[in-house]
Amino acid sequence: MTRQTLIAGNWKMHGLTEALGFFGAIAPIAAKSPATVLVCPPATLLQQAARACDGTVVRVGGQDCHAAPSGAHTGDISAAMLRDAGATHVILGHSERRADHGERDADIRAKAEAALAAGLVPVICVGETLSEREAGREVEIVAGQLAGSLPENAASVDLVIAYEPVWAIGTGLTASVADVASMHAAIRERLPNPATSCILYGGSVKPDNAAELLGLADVDGALVGGASLNASDFTAIIEAASRKRE
Ligand code: PGA
Repeated sequence: MTRQTLIAGNWKMHGLTEALGFFGAIAPIAAKSPATVLVCPPATLLQQAARACDGTVVRVGGQDCHAAPSGAHTGDISAAMLRDAGATHVILGHSERRADHGERDADIRAKAEAALAAGLVPVICVGETLSEREAGREVEIVAGQLAGSLPENAASVDLVIAYEPVWAIGTGLTASVADVASMHAAIRERLPNPATSCILYGGSVKPDNAAELLGLADVDGALVGGASLNASDFTAIIEAASRKRE
């Protein structure tokens, strides 16, 4: 069975209306790729991004959602609102949200369940800090995050997990190929549907390291931050993913 390959861009808190030209630039490359291409712009651009992607294969997603379907939660966005704006996916439990907003595994599980209920694919992020890796605890930490944050019905849905070592995000450092391979294998064996679950690597994925990382058997794609802000860098990563299937 072939697992889907997914190249996902995470724009974080970057992007004004003028950035929307990006979608026209990447769409022809995405059309030629067997990989699914997803871009998660800030919520303010989501609807316009979805319109810009209409009639193309490029999908758009949110970067977070609230666990409740609606309610008195000033400043928050529900999964149904993301879906309504045109999202197909939502990133959940990114380490920046775990750090900046105190999100715990149980919050991420509740959000993942809300996302599934609204018809979105959750992209659940896990990853250890540098001190946890230096203490040799990386598998224990990631296993704990998986156990705590996967949705209740994980066995019956298509899961996307993103392994992002916290120390590799935005730093230009990447985990070694051997470390990524062994962590992805460790994650896969802990998932209820190992054969069909999609496991992304994230953390300073760039055009010059994408082919090596995406060449690993258990790496089904990438979650790309900085390099997803530039159409030529992002398309180079999509092209590296296309070669995965050759
Ligand atoms: P980066 O971010 O590619 O800029 O390291 C990855 C992420 O945070 O998803």
